[in-house]
Amino acid sequence: MTGRIAGLGSYLPKRIVTNDDLAAIVETSDEWIQERTGIAQRHISDPLVEKPSYMAGIAAQRALEDAGIDGSEIDLIVVSCTTPDKVIPTMACCVQEAVGADGCGCFDINSACPGWLAAYNTAQSFIESGNCSKALVVGVECLSNFVDWEDRGTCILFGDGAGAAVLVADESASKNRFIMHATYNKAECLTAEARMQPKRWEEEGFLKSTMFQMNGRDVFRFAVTEVPKIITELSEKYSFDLNDIDLFILHQANARIIETIAKRLGQDISKFPMTVYDTGNTSTASIPSLMDRLKKEGKLVKGQKIVLSSFGGGLTWAANYIEY
Ligand code: UT7
Repeated sequence: MTGRIAGLGSYLPKRIVTNDDLAAIVETSDEWIQERTGIAQRHISDPLVEKPSYMAGIAAQRALEDAGIDGSEIDLIVVSCTTPDKVIPTMACCVQEAVGADGCGCFDINSACPGWLAAYNTAQSFIESGNCSKALVVGVECLSNFVDWEDRGTCILFGDGAGAAVLVADESASKNRFIMHATYNKAECLTAEARMQPKRWEEEGFLKSTMFQMNGRDVFRFAVTEVPKIITELSEKYSFDLNDIDLFILHQANARIIETIAKRLGQDISKFPMTVYDTGNTSTASIPSLMDRLKKEGKLVKGQKIVLSSFGGGLTWAANYIEY
């Protein structure tokens, strides 16, 4: 048994922040942001209402509706989140309440942007080992709470949102095929210190260090080097031809990163759908919410061969091959 993706759902906050809105608070311009990132706007949550637990719950409800499954049938919930509004109960427990899945197993995973792939692979392993038959896998992020709004190098990149998938054990689904990597080399190019550290608030610079810190050039280089490598490694490990892939659904961080990866893989850019232009980088939510959008647009259809890949803090990166 392997999990078939039976339903998809997503949530984007109501408030849209354009590049011109950002140009009013930091020294930047719509032209610079669009040219370097492909981003035109992002959705930023209402901090009092659209908390990660709320966004995750709605994305999960929508995925269940799409699958035609009641929350009470779910026996596992895994949520990937780096920016939760609560540490206890976990985001997964909050989603459990939102969908009425009382009694099922629930836990969170934090693996930065590739976290949704880590959650997906974990849920698939539960299904393949016979430990569950219907799972909800959610990715949610509220980076607006962690971004330094005075740092033009990072605040222009991120947006908030959530994406979710329902996996249903199915004998005819092909085995889950994936690779995950991490390295401590260059870990310092993407960091955020935990805020709950005794006495650290008195240290100079501690508050800033709890905000998202990034060396953009190093992250860019890491992404365009490692993502083509892991996708090639995946195709060799599982013996498939990259030319047969219908869609490469990549982490939506930067259009230039995606374009460079497509070129390095020798693949046409039309196989690399993007939402980064209107959502910004929603970290772990980017892949499931893009899949949801593609499905609604009729571009994600049964039988397609798909590569998923993401990269981020840790440094971490991962890739999956799925037959949808
Ligand atoms: O989920 C993973 C998360 N992280 C990423 O995906 C980040 C990957 N990296 C990137 O996307 C790019 O490196 C950035 C978009 C962050 C930056 O683009 P870049 O082409 O690498 O620019 P840069 O950092 O090399 O900066 C070039 C110039 C600098 O000015 P000087 O030193 O040449 O005078 C920056 O100060 O652009 C300046 N700059 C800006 N100018 C206007 C940096 N940010 C901005 C800005 N507006 N927002």
